[in-house]
Amino acid sequence: MDSKLGAYNIHDLRDMARRNLPRGVFEFVDRGTEDDNAVANNRAALERIRFRPRTLVDVSKRDLSITLFGKKQPMPFCVGPTGTAGLLWYGGELGVARAAAKAGIPFTVAVNSMTSMETIAEQAGGTLWFQLYLWSDRNYSYQIVERAKKVGFEALILTVDGAVPSNREYNHRNGFEVPIQFNTRNVTDVLSRPRWLASVFLRQLVTSGMPRFENYPPEVMDGLMSRTWKKTILKNDGMNWDDLRKLRELWPRTLMVKGVLSPQDAVKAAECGADAVIVSNHGGRNLDYSVAPIDALPGVVEAAGKRLTVIMDSGLRRGSDVVKALALGARAAFIGRAPLYGVAAHGEAGAARAIEIFREEISRVMALLGVNSVAELDRRCLQLPEMK
Ligand SMILES: Cc1cc2nc3c(=O)[nH]c(=O)nc-3n(C[C@H](O)[C@H](O)[C@H](O)COP(=O)(O)O)c2cc1C
Repeated sequence: MDSKLGAYNIHDLRDMARRNLPRGVFEFVDRGTEDDNAVANNRAALERIRFRPRTLVDVSKRDLSITLFGKKQPMPFCVGPTGTAGLLWYGGELGVARAAAKAGIPFTVAVNSMTSMETIAEQAGGTLWFQLYLWSDRNYSYQIVERAKKVGFEALILTVDGAVPSNREYNHRNGFEVPIQFNTRNVTDVLSRPRWLASVFLRQLVTSGMPRFENYPPEVMDGLMSRTWKKTILKNDGMNWDDLRKLRELWPRTLMVKGVLSPQDAVKAAECGADAVIVSNHGGRNLDYSVAPIDALPGVVEAAGKRLTVIMDSGLRRGSDVVKALALGARAAFIGRAPLYGVAAHGEAGAARAIEIFREEISRVMALLGVNSVAELDRRCLQLPEMK
């Protein structure tokens, strides 16, 4: 296999992931919620933006690096929290984390990760951030915060766009829900991907048992198969701004709020002491028909961009998408599904390929735009559709 792994873009990695994974697993990664409108609209909104290139600029020394929270990184994007890579490839989460570390970009460990935060920190290294959901029993969440502090995570990300679980009907249909219960549909599905069954699922089962949420405290942690699954603990519909203030007291390092789409919320996050907001609709996975983050971004930057760092994600599949976000004022972008497609296609090498594709594409787009540094990217590089 060549160094490109037969993948010229993220779409190729997605196709490979689809071929490797049982349908239930692939759809869990790939799809959104309800009518999948937000997923499609995230793309449509990015695709409506055009570039206005400048020519005869010497771009031979262009530089993709940025400084984020005082630390230089060679590329203007980070790996966002997803926590399912372990279901896509054996040791998949470590694979993605290592690929990010080798590329010099931050990797976010999700609280719902199937590899523990300690293992990832020990075995992958690099710049590591931790993502948290606040549970109804805050003390369990605070225990996790303490652990993340001890492990040395450089940033904590509180995800705020999931007050209640989203309505992912395909997961019900595919029998892909926690706790997993076997039925004809999901058994047939899994048997249709014998390589995945043997090299991912059974291997995981034999080496460390049923996949579990390894960051959960023992009282909460339970096998995905368990019928005693304590779902009520995972509820977070009582979360509010006081929780963010409290977290600010507990967490001494960089604190980010993920899932903000309104300028007012970004200002409030700044008032509560957050260092950054991530303008995101969770990749279209939570509230269907929510506005595309790329459309919400300019308003957030205008309202709060001087008070905190603004990052954006959702729908980024090309380097050109990242460049558009940066030109609209994001200081960096997160990629979510792209490295998951990569790891499902070829393990760590596939995740590394996804990162490399973004690097190559961003560099090429900057050159063709006549831009030498990320700081030079601004609205003059873009032709925007009529904003509502
Ligand atoms: C399979 C999967 C699992 C995810 N799990 C989490 C999570 O546990 N916490 C979180 O804040 N975001 C989670 N996300 C959302 C991502 O962090 C990110 O916002 C989103 O994937 C960005 O959109 P993109 O996938 O189009 O790049 C998940 C996304 C996917 C695809």
